[in-house]
Amino acid sequence: MPGWNFPLFPERATDYAGRVDALYFFLVAVCSIMAFGIALVIVVFAVKYRKSKGRPATQIEGSLVLELAWSITPLFFFLAFFLWGANLFYDAHRPPRNAEEIYVVAKQWMWKLQHLDGQREINELHIPVGRDIVLNMVSQDVIHSFFVPAFRIKADVLPGRYTHVWFHASKPGNYHLFCAEYCGTMHSGMIGQVVVMAPSEYQEWMSGGVTGSLARSGEKLFMDLGCGTCHRGDPQARGPNLSGLFGRPVNLADGRTIVADESYIRESILSPPAKVVAGFQPIMPNFQSQLSEEGVIALVAYIKSMGQNPTGEPVPNQAAPAQAPPVGKKVQ
Ligand code: CUA
Repeated sequence: MPGWNFPLFPERATDYAGRVDALYFFLVAVCSIMAFGIALVIVVFAVKYRKSKGRPATQIEGSLVLELAWSITPLFFFLAFFLWGANLFYDAHRPPRNAEEIYVVAKQWMWKLQHLDGQREINELHIPVGRDIVLNMVSQDVIHSFFVPAFRIKADVLPGRYTHVWFHASKPGNYHLFCAEYCGTMHSGMIGQVVVMAPSEYQEWMSGGVTGSLARSGEKLFMDLGCGTCHRGDPQARGPNLSGLFGRPVNLADGRTIVADESYIRESILSPPAKVVAGFQPIMPNFQSQLSEEGVIALVAYIKSMGQNPTGEPVPNQAAPAQAPPVGKKVQ
């Protein structure tokens, strides 16, 4: 129909979107059939047992078969909703191993996006089509929520902890990005767009204005802050060796064992006494006042890159190139 533009659903730009919609249509179908059935019975009974017929009321003492039927049948449907929904939820929150990482920092009232290659964006995210992308997200202030309707993904962005969500865009285009958690007066203005590009276009976009990788910025910060004087990697060092740390279990001084993930590294930078590694003294100063969330992200990326060294040897501390951006400096 010419001029007809009344979309009931956002576009589907991921395969996942189709799976979410299928569950949604199933929910709507079950609820509609139930609502229609109940309405039908109300009307039929209202006519059949209307007062003018003068039927005497009869007392019915119950029916086990009927009661079991109307308890067990809905149970199956509710469990189906649950299992189907849980399956989708797990899939959205368990990124594939080699997904490309992008860091997201939310603040009142903007989205700051940081690619591992060094590209930084505000309220705009450029990604290639057909690639698995995982977002590592953290908030600088209150709770926000990263919502891309066309991808059917929505995940809370919390202060003090990294949350993750991933997607695989299957269709180039520009898609809305919203904040879906009320976060203050300009919440409704906390919007942007996700630009899904063909791989060649994306390469071109990526190569424009590259300023050095995120891990490189982290390495520079690591040196500027003097982290390497304690985290040296030799047996006499005053701090634990960070090489190969990411994703490994860590024994703590209080007897617990945890797995070193992004949130643990972040916490150890900003409040070191929270989890002291077994065999070390709680002597590390707190870097809260010296680092922005972007700085922490750069350090996390650097520490993760140490873990990816195939030889397992500590990454040599080379000087970062002079054009590396001052990503970590606290700016307001
Ligand atoms: Cu950020 Cu609403």
